[in-house]
Parts: sequence; structure tokens; C-alpha cells
Amino acid sequence: MIGRLNHVAIVVPDLTAAAALYKDQLGAAVSEPVPLPEHGVTTVFVELSNSKIELLHPLGEDSPVANFLAKNPVGGMHHICYEVADIHAAIEHLTNQGARVLGGGEPKIGAHNLPVVFLHPKDFCGTLIELEEVQRGDCASRSA
Ligand code: CO
Repeated sequence: MIGRLNHVAIVVPDLTAAAALYKDQLGAAVSEPVPLPEHGVTTVFVELSNSKIELLHPLGEDSPVANFLAKNPVGGMHHICYEVADIHAAIEHLTNQGARVLGGGEPKIGAHNLPVVFLHPKDFCGTLIELEEVQRGDCASRSA
């Protein structure tokens, strides 16, 4: 059911320092910081040849990553995102298997303007999983 690894999200305490680390030490192509106020994060996109890393930093009062950063002050891996072709079919399949789909099981529009849901980490080896519906075939402009 899951397709490509779309991205790995890492919450960082200092976005500028983290972007410099990926650019200068790891030699990766990094974007400028992109504020996504409706998602409560500022993101730096790290483009790899086969996937992306998203460096996330809390933005605004009600950031979904603020608690994570409070518990992990040096930062850490927050979630991994897999692509699915049909998010409603994926939700139905997972719910039938007893997995917990967060947010009442309803997809929301995610940071890439595509439908996403998150799955409970306790059901998936301690990893917060994001599923993103991606229609492959017209995918050239899907990132960011
Ligand atoms: Co994500």
C-alpha cells in the first residue's frame, strides 16, 4: 500500500544552524526557510536525489512540534512520510486492521497542499507516520 518515502521530518532548535549543517557539512541542497503558519512550522527543505528531509521549527503559539522540542531540546526525528495513491482507501484499510488514524481519521491538507493523515506511533514501532496522497505521473512540481 505505501509507496515512496516522501520525506523524513526532523525538528530542530535552530533552523539556521541546522540548514547550515546540511548544506556545509553534509553537502546537500537546502531551501530558504519557508514559513507555513497554517501548520505552525517554519520548514527548510533538504532535497536528496531520492527523497527529502524537512527541518522543522515551531512557528506561532500553537505549534504541533513545540512539545516535541521541549522534550527533545537538541532536536530529533519527528515523523516519516510515505506516499499512498488513495488516502481514503489507506485509512479504511488501516482502521480495519485496528490501527489508530489520528485526527478522527479524516485527511487534512498538509504542508505540500496534498491530503495527509498521521498514524499513532504506538501502532507503528514508536514512529509517527504521515501518509500523503500523491498522484504519481504529474509529480514534477510536488515538492514544497
Ligand atoms: Co511531514
